[in-house]
Amino acid sequence: MRRETLLIEVSPTQPDLAVINRAADILRGGGLVAFPTETVYGLGADALNPDAVKKIFSAKHRPTDNPMIVHVAALEDLRVLVDDISTEAIPLMKQFWPGPLTLIFRKSRQVSDAVTGGQETVAVRMPRNIIALALIRALGHPIAAPSANLSGRPSPTTGRHVLQDLKGEIDMILDGGPVEVGVESTVLDLSHRLPAILRPGSVTWEELEPFIGKVVPAAEGNLLKRSPGTRYRHYSPQARVTLVELADQKAIDRLIAHHTKKGIKVGILSRQPQSLHSNIDVVVRSMPQDLKVYAMQMFAIMRELDELGVDEMIIEKVEEKGIGVAIMDRLRRAASR
Ligand code: TXA
Ligand code: MG
Repeated sequence: MRRETLLIEVSPTQPDLAVINRAADILRGGGLVAFPTETVYGLGADALNPDAVKKIFSAKHRPTDNPMIVHVAALEDLRVLVDDISTEAIPLMKQFWPGPLTLIFRKSRQVSDAVTGGQETVAVRMPRNIIALALIRALGHPIAAPSANLSGRPSPTTGRHVLQDLKGEIDMILDGGPVEVGVESTVLDLSHRLPAILRPGSVTWEELEPFIGKVVPAAEGNLLKRSPGTRYRHYSPQARVTLVELADQKAIDRLIAHHTKKGIKVGILSRQPQSLHSNIDVVVRSMPQDLKVYAMQMFAIMRELDELGVDEMIIEKVEEKGIGVAIMDRLRRAASR
């Protein structure tokens, strides 16, 4: 059903409570509200209302077996979602909540299949964005929210990105400006004997290691079954993406020559200084050396180059350390067809 989508600007530090309450009323009535988190924008529904949650799948064109993350504002909110909190989870929550770490628990009976895609587990996180926390508190229930993009597109890091993808499909967007982190939360599964990182994110393996010891890295074993989201193509711009090795300027130059000869419009995302291209078919975006800043800009730049009509994006790989692991995970998915 098409509807009018209201976009309302909200201060990220002192959100107007009248606006937050209006958004909470929409959620209470079974509607959909997009809101900023510190990672990316989320598309929220009342997590305890399965009919509302189902609307998220159709708005995003999301496969219904892909479960979503439930967002809480306080540890008490976990009580309705999870029967027993595993002992390993407690120090992690103390250290990383509120923040970009999602933990997978065995679910309670109150959590519907709509949220979990029929799985016995539920993914939960406590965001640190003030608007997100205020909205969960105003609703008085946890909020189920995947990223607020059309399924498969780069995650939204501004309110405008949400509007581009979901205009007419959702009731309201709380626009709190650009997000702080830019890459989605780390998803850590504690529901099995060995903890497993199902999705690398902005909480890095190095930060988690002292708390959990040995972990199974995301690509191993049966993890694909445990993390349905990783089965789908993700984070892809419309343009085709080719990754080149770190500092391989020759490969970049070769690809530029190859494509421009055929009149194909090329975009380059690189941290190497590029020679000036007078060719209007080459769009260069020099990426920041600091990988935290890189993460913040990555999805927005992919969307920008799409808007400029780029057909081929050539992206230089980054080193797989710290948040670089999450960045490379997203770049590989963007490059896979
Ligand atoms: O930073 C984030 O995590 C953002 C913000 C909005 O919180 N949310 C987000 O949600 O990225 P989404 O739905 O785009 O990604 C959630 C990921 C998917 O890969 C999904 O398969 C996985 O978490 N997931 C959710 N519930 C799960 C479960 N019960 N077991 C395993 N994986 C689960
Ligand atoms: Mg997503």
